[in-house]
Amino acid sequence: MSDRTNMAPNDLSAFWMPFTANRQFKKNPRMFVAADGMYYTTADGRKVLDGTAGLWCVNAGHNQPRIVEAIAKQAAELDYAPAFQMGHPKAFELANRLVDMAPEGMEHVFYTNSGSESVETALKIAIAYHRARGEGTRTRLIGRERGYHGVNFGGISVGGIGPNRKTFGSLLTGVDHMPHTHIPENAFTRGQPEHGAEIADELERIVALGDASNIAAVIIEPMAGSTGVLLPPKGYLERIRAITKKHGILLIFDEVITGFGRLGSAFGATHYGVTPDMMTTAKGLTNGVIPMGAVLTSNEIHDAFMQGDEGLIELFHGYTYSGNPMASAAGLATLETYKEDGLFENARDLAGYWEDALHALRGLPHVIDIRNEGLIGAIELSPIEGKPTKRAFQAFLDAYDAGILIRTTGDIIALSPPLIITKAHIDELFGKLTDVLKNLD
Ligand SMILES: Cc1ncc(COP(=O)(O)O)c(C=O)c1O
Repeated sequence: MSDRTNMAPNDLSAFWMPFTANRQFKKNPRMFVAADGMYYTTADGRKVLDGTAGLWCVNAGHNQPRIVEAIAKQAAELDYAPAFQMGHPKAFELANRLVDMAPEGMEHVFYTNSGSESVETALKIAIAYHRARGEGTRTRLIGRERGYHGVNFGGISVGGIGPNRKTFGSLLTGVDHMPHTHIPENAFTRGQPEHGAEIADELERIVALGDASNIAAVIIEPMAGSTGVLLPPKGYLERIRAITKKHGILLIFDEVITGFGRLGSAFGATHYGVTPDMMTTAKGLTNGVIPMGAVLTSNEIHDAFMQGDEGLIELFHGYTYSGNPMASAAGLATLETYKEDGLFENARDLAGYWEDALHALRGLPHVIDIRNEGLIGAIELSPIEGKPTKRAFQAFLDAYDAGILIRTTGDIIALSPPLIITKAHIDELFGKLTDVLKNLD
């Protein structure tokens, strides 16, 4: 083993960075060393406006004092407690707060540590639920093209992003995919697009082929974020809900991005007025500060497991850190902040201003589509011929130099700021982005 005790602090080789061009990054690293409110501070002392709430998670802004204090206090009081056959009060309190803010009918919470784990948990619960009710043949899962459900095997199997699946073997069997809803007629739509509700009917075709008696669940993001912000066409989610209900198939909304105010409501389900049977969450649950995820389920699902001998474990699933005290404390302080500071209302109030600022970029070089909802937005660029992703990534680098953090996926720029944003921040973000796009090759 090599001796690393004298490793220079600036040796970057050991950390194999996730979803990163490691060699490129390490030649010219971009380091944040501090953050406050809407801004990061870079290692060279520059302020960078956070246009993406980190990775769609810092909804209450950085270093939120309530959350900082809650974590510090919790660390000194109860740092860790096991969640298998033991409990601590804050995990139960947080579950109650989550149920309070969830749509009617979501009554139970299963804790995880990330969005990916929430997805695995929901898929496993779906299959086990049908078995518990005596319908053990219902094991097939249905996802959607361009869906992002994290990076674990279940998630990439139901997910629909090619590069995330391509190099990882045969994945889960028994998975079908519905088509995505991104169609050219809807370019430059403000909010929910008019066209495409009928794409939901493809689900009927898949059900006819696989038979409902073999299908456990459909999983979709109510608004697909990571793939580049694809809004559900008007009426689409309602149709998916109706078809799943008709065939006894569970509907899982992956709310890892849409949860906690991103669209101006507590959840995508609340925003769109369509209630699924399960919801997967993470990210904004703890403001991204301490890893935590949660799956919310209906009474019906939960109760199907609560049968038989009361002394026996009902679900053989869980994580060492499920409901961890530090994460629970961070979650409670985060939810309190959303409420006390009216952050979902702020997102709702500013959505119109945000929409206008975003759509003002129409007509800039290479811009081929702009999409938005709540405090989320996407600007799609035409790719450089033969070099997909390169143009948007250059925009990302230029934006960082200009003092704004944006995110790119393919040739799409995605924006999702902390919900504490003001009109002045929106002006700064789009002012700088306009300059970046004007000068982009
Ligand atoms: C909809 C959705 N599901 C799941 C995930 C995975 O979450 P995590 O990175 O916390 O595992 C993400 C992450 O962006 C997401 O957007």
